[in-house]
Amino acid sequence: MAAKEWRTHNASGKKRVVVTKELPGKRWLEVLTAAGCRVEIGTSTKILSVNQVKAAIGSKCDAVIGQLTEDWSEVLFGALKNAGGKAYSNYAVGYNNVKVPVATKHGIPVGNTPGVLTDTTAEMAVSLTFSAARRVTEADPFMRKGKYKGWLPTLFLGELLTRKTVGVIGAGRIGTAYAKMMVEGFKMDFIYYDLYQNKHLESYIRAYNKFLRSQGEKPVKCVRAKKAEDVLKAADVVSLHPLLDKTTHHLMNKKRLSLMKENAILVNASRGPVIDEAALVAHCKKNPRFKAGLDVFEDEPKMKPGLAQLPNVVIVPHIASATDWTREGMATLAASNVAGILQGYPCWTDMDVLPFLGKKPPRAAPSIVNAKELGLKTK
Ligand SMILES: NC(=O)c1ccc[n+]([C@@H]2O[C@H](COP(=O)([O-])OP(=O)(O)OC[C@H]3O[C@@H](n4cnc5c(N)ncnc54)[C@H](O)[C@@H]3O)[C@@H](O)[C@H]2O)c1
Repeated sequence: MAAKEWRTHNASGKKRVVVTKELPGKRWLEVLTAAGCRVEIGTSTKILSVNQVKAAIGSKCDAVIGQLTEDWSEVLFGALKNAGGKAYSNYAVGYNNVKVPVATKHGIPVGNTPGVLTDTTAEMAVSLTFSAARRVTEADPFMRKGKYKGWLPTLFLGELLTRKTVGVIGAGRIGTAYAKMMVEGFKMDFIYYDLYQNKHLESYIRAYNKFLRSQGEKPVKCVRAKKAEDVLKAADVVSLHPLLDKTTHHLMNKKRLSLMKENAILVNASRGPVIDEAALVAHCKKNPRFKAGLDVFEDEPKMKPGLAQLPNVVIVPHIASATDWTREGMATLAASNVAGILQGYPCWTDMDVLPFLGKKPPRAAPSIVNAKELGLKTK
């Protein structure tokens, strides 16, 4: 990147922090400035190559805030270590782009930004669900192009979801938030598959059922499936929320897609490679009543051939966490991770990181994923 594609904030700061993309809001800059950091920010909107990030790290760099589009493995962690680097934070909750064991080997703490994306991402999954179910992205251009000639009983018939069955694969923070929205909002029966039992969610739905009964309404079902296949067979809509690793890569393949109901809806706001996208294209072509809502893609920013032409697929460019509050919160958490480590603060162990967005943030690094492996102090 040319020099003009970097801007410097607090040039007199003693510790040099490289931030590979502009981040929203001002609070994150205040956090880094208060920690005595000179902040160098990449202003290009182009995705940086490994070599470009390496060049930005240079010969002296105390910490980096990087993006999920960058490959953080040996080359970059080696370069950061050689430059005297002491911290890295991903500007994301997911960190499948980061080889954490490599960072640990170099003694570099890795931060992420959990908590602030949960409801925002779940809301996008709900939006994709209903955009697909009610064919919003087919009907919108129809209207704009002046094709609407009057109300018809058969125009854009979609799927009613109230009191049907919603399935979640990966019932962690975001999967739980999505499940609550769909169960409470549309009184849907719920089935989920996760490696772990989600006792909180199960007890929440039991309490919700008490409320429904008190109103004279039928309770909803809540089932923990033994395998993903059981969710796929039972649900009218399945939303994918696992992390991406070897166990979830192509979790949705040709065989598993074929288990879903012919008019089911598949939503993905996790990571693209969780779905075999070419198999999804073939499945949607063969089953015109099947629908999908996708925020993420296997070869981002590209799509597999044929996907963009499918009317039964709703596609948005990885914007599930794109609200002002969330993106500014992510920036504050990423900056606090880096500033916390550079100031020698302990690592926060409470799952709730929202105090870091408040007026009196804790003197800690909010979310360091390899704190235990590095034997860092905790709070
Ligand atoms: N589209 C976006 O903009 C966006 C935003 C935020 C997060 N994400 C993605 O969503 C993922 C989930 O985020 P989260 O905050 O809910 O994480 P989380 O860690 O709270 O939840 C992940 C869940 O997946 C489960 N899981 C792991 N392997 C599994 C498997 N093989 N089968 C079924 N379940 C499995 C885990 O047990 C856990 O409950 C992130 O890792 C990230 O990749 C995407």
